[in-house]
Amino acid sequence: MASANHDEDVFEKPDVFNIHRNPNPHLGLGSGIHYCMGSQLARMESRIALQTLLDRYPAYRRDRSVELARMDSTMMFALKELPIILK
Ligand code: HEM
Repeated sequence: MASANHDEDVFEKPDVFNIHRNPNPHLGLGSGIHYCMGSQLARMESRIALQTLLDRYPAYRRDRSVELARMDSTMMFALKELPIILK
């Protein structure tokens, strides 16, 4: 699944983070009969968390002094940590 979300036959510039992709046929919440049952809750929680973070720290940015490391997972294309600077 992690690989499918970076399929260059499906996504233009698959390794570029682009929040405006539309359509965006990602498999982050699965697909078909086993599609994530908590998807609506997950989307709502994500929206609230990101909105709260942006409201409180509109200038937050990534701490580029820290080397990024990927999680060892075939399920998710995720980072072990993403340190940010709030001010
Ligand atoms: C960002 C948060 C979440 C992500 C990325 C996520 C991702 C996924 C993915 C990829 C699957 C499909 C697994 C597969 O194909 O075998 C799945 C299934 C599932 N998810 Fe989530 N999930 C999230 C949050 C939640 C929450 C909050 C709940 C419940 C409150 C939940 C409940 C479930 C359940 C019950 C299934 C199994 C559905 C089935 O097999 O029919 N998930 N999730």
